[in-house]
Amino acid sequence: MPSLSLHQLHVRYGRREVIHDLNAPRIEAGKVTALLGPNGSGKSTLLKAVAGLASADGRIEFDGHALRRQNGPSRQVAYLPQTLPPAVRLRVLESVLVARQATATGLGQSGREQDVLALLERLGIAHLALCFLDQLSGGQRQLVGIAQALVREPAILLLDEPLSALDLNHQFHVMELLRQETRRRGMVTVVVLHDINVALRHTDHVLVLQAGRLVADGVPAAVVTPAILAEVYGVQGRVEACSHGQAMVMVDGLVAAPV
Ligand SMILES: Nc1ncnc2c1ncn2[C@@H]1O[C@H](COP(=O)(O)OP(=O)(O)OP(=O)(O)O)[C@@H](O)[C@H]1O
Ligand SMILES: [Mg+2]
Repeated sequence: MPSLSLHQLHVRYGRREVIHDLNAPRIEAGKVTALLGPNGSGKSTLLKAVAGLASADGRIEFDGHALRRQNGPSRQVAYLPQTLPPAVRLRVLESVLVARQATATGLGQSGREQDVLALLERLGIAHLALCFLDQLSGGQRQLVGIAQALVREPAILLLDEPLSALDLNHQFHVMELLRQETRRRGMVTVVVLHDINVALRHTDHVLVLQAGRLVADGVPAAVVTPAILAEVYGVQGRVEACSHGQAMVMVDGLVAAPV
């Protein structure tokens, strides 16, 4: 399986460096990787750098080759920003078809429409196909954004807080679908999450950012520990197995600030 690797990555906004000498040597295809970290730690900036939307120093490689970024975003990458897709006067089906055209395969129009409808079906939003984006709820629009990213069939899928507007049912559904699609297509999938229990339940690999540095990289059960919760998030947390044996985080309080 190929992998995405980041070497000595530095990202700046003007003179201010936000990502400092970051090395993530093995973000494997076929696995869902969670990118965790507090507000302002650099998660969105890191995704933008990998997507070719923020200039970065260092090396970003996929399958042993530099990810091409000379002409803007790479076609191998699909990126869903943290902000919801704009509420434009376009029907859901059209908007996903437009996204699919970015990957221009040899299929005819009808084949494309069938593919898109099948994807909307799998996301549970086929009934919205003919609705206008500016008449959807926030969560519905977020699901369309996920469809627009998936339909490009990228080698690398980058999703910035894709669950932020979704209810519990849709959160579970999207994470399961991502896992299936990631395995089936052999994609590199990186998902920014704030809910650590979702990361523990639904992802295969976890990266933790703190103030622009990578402070943990490994399987969820090894990375998510009371020590990391205290150090990175400043919370007193327990990681315990629930009655089904699933590891879960419970937060009991805040770590007292040093005086
Ligand atoms: N366009 C920008 N120009 C200047 N500074 C920026 C810009 N975008 C982000 N920053 C700064 O870079 C740092 C990292 O921001 P980033 O958006 O990557 O954090 P994040 O981990 O995604 O946070 P959140 O969880 O709140 O989304 C922050 O200190 C932020 O103020
Ligand atoms: Mg962010």
